[in-house]
Amino acid sequence: MKSSEKKAPAKPKKKIVEKKVSHAKTPTSTLMQAARGMRDILPNEQAYWVHMDKSFQKALQEFGFRRIQVPIVEYASIYEKSVGGSTDIVEKEMYVFQSRGGDRLALRPEMTAGIVRAFIQHGMHVWAKPLKFFSQGPVFRYERPQEGRYREHYQANFDVFGEVDPVLDAQLIQMASRILSSLGLKKVQFQINSIGCKQCRKDYNHLLVSYFKSKSTKLCADCKRRLSSNPLRIFDCKEEKCTHVRFGAPQSLDHLCKDCHDHFKHLLEYLDELEVSYQINPFLVRGLDYYTRTVFEIWPVEEEGKRVSLGGGGRYDDLVAFMGGEATPAIGFGLGMDRIVAQMKKENTKIFKEPTPKVFLAQLGDLAKKKSLKLFSQLERSGVLVAESFGRGSLRAQLRQASKIEADIALILGQKEALDETIIVKDMASGSQEIVAQDKLPEIIKKLLKNNVVVKHA
Ligand code: HAM
Repeated sequence: MKSSEKKAPAKPKKKIVEKKVSHAKTPTSTLMQAARGMRDILPNEQAYWVHMDKSFQKALQEFGFRRIQVPIVEYASIYEKSVGGSTDIVEKEMYVFQSRGGDRLALRPEMTAGIVRAFIQHGMHVWAKPLKFFSQGPVFRYERPQEGRYREHYQANFDVFGEVDPVLDAQLIQMASRILSSLGLKKVQFQINSIGCKQCRKDYNHLLVSYFKSKSTKLCADCKRRLSSNPLRIFDCKEEKCTHVRFGAPQSLDHLCKDCHDHFKHLLEYLDELEVSYQINPFLVRGLDYYTRTVFEIWPVEEEGKRVSLGGGGRYDDLVAFMGGEATPAIGFGLGMDRIVAQMKKENTKIFKEPTPKVFLAQLGDLAKKKSLKLFSQLERSGVLVAESFGRGSLRAQLRQASKIEADIALILGQKEALDETIIVKDMASGSQEIVAQDKLPEIIKKLLKNNVVVKHA
């Protein structure tokens, strides 16, 4: 044996020290609770969400939008670069983590960055313009949970690529307005501003810095820092003392270049033509850095001062190029679905109700159960909505279920009826019952219910 092949002396085995995992933040008593700021949306809430989906679907068809889905997880740098390093979202609210493979990822804190990434990745700049995209889903922000502010919330986003004309801005705002009124919301208002383009922003930023510098003792620590990194962000600060200071600040509308000025002027003219009401808010900026020119938010009328928006958006003409794609103007907005539901409740709007079955199909015995399966789908196909609990054997339990769901009619299929191709039709209110041929059933039921509860599936 060569010396190099000699076995090295065995190293003393490393003691494996088990790391103690601290459960301090998730005591057993809270393990069965949703994580802080996250919530369940239970079945009894769903009618509002269905109603919203229907309104969105209608608007998508009317305005020619197509659906797109982008991942909930992206490289964190995508959000950092697009949303902006000095925004609250990136500085304080992103859920960033490292994957097992070592990638630095983030749960999406908004959807636009992912859509722009997809636009660039799939070479959409050569697709026929304008491109109109609709996306929907959960968004995550590590915010201080409170009413209407969650760590997971749902957004519906409408984005248009490839048009710089302000007519698009007006059309998009009109679309948002139509959606809100189709949801029955009346106590909402559009707040609109123009924050100009890169060009006009340069001079405006200087003015802002000198104004806020003169008031710097009255600003919070974050805003003092923002003075040099991104003075426009001071308008977005939620601290009360900063709110007071900003009212005396120079306004972007007074410092727009000619193109931006004309763009905004035309937008307002189009909105007037469309009879969309709005309020010009010279202090409105958005919590994300990518916007240029038009910005807007939808506020509940009664909560004007609280800055709880139901939705918001604006132009982001420079973002695609900034992220490395072909320069493409774009505009979009996001609706906060959780807050819209809350507003619908506040305004007591009428919502679409899922039809509930008024007929219950009960069965007794193996053959009857088999036949019931078929009968159930035959009835559904003929437009009769039927409830059942095929998993239960006892007739009494099934009829109890029929009463629970407030069915008007119970259909009972026993062994004998299954063989005879008949069925018992029982009026739940009076208890009276008759035996009828199965093939006459849809007709008989429709007559009995006087077409009140017979619902055709959409
Ligand atoms: P955003 O204003 O940050 O815009 O969010 C859109 C909407 O999501 C808000 O107006 C609000 O209704 C809702 N929202 C935001 N944070 C929360 C929260 N913590 N809890 C409940 N609801 C919340 C954007 O995210 C942009 N990406 C919208 C956009 C699309 N701009 C262009 N295209």
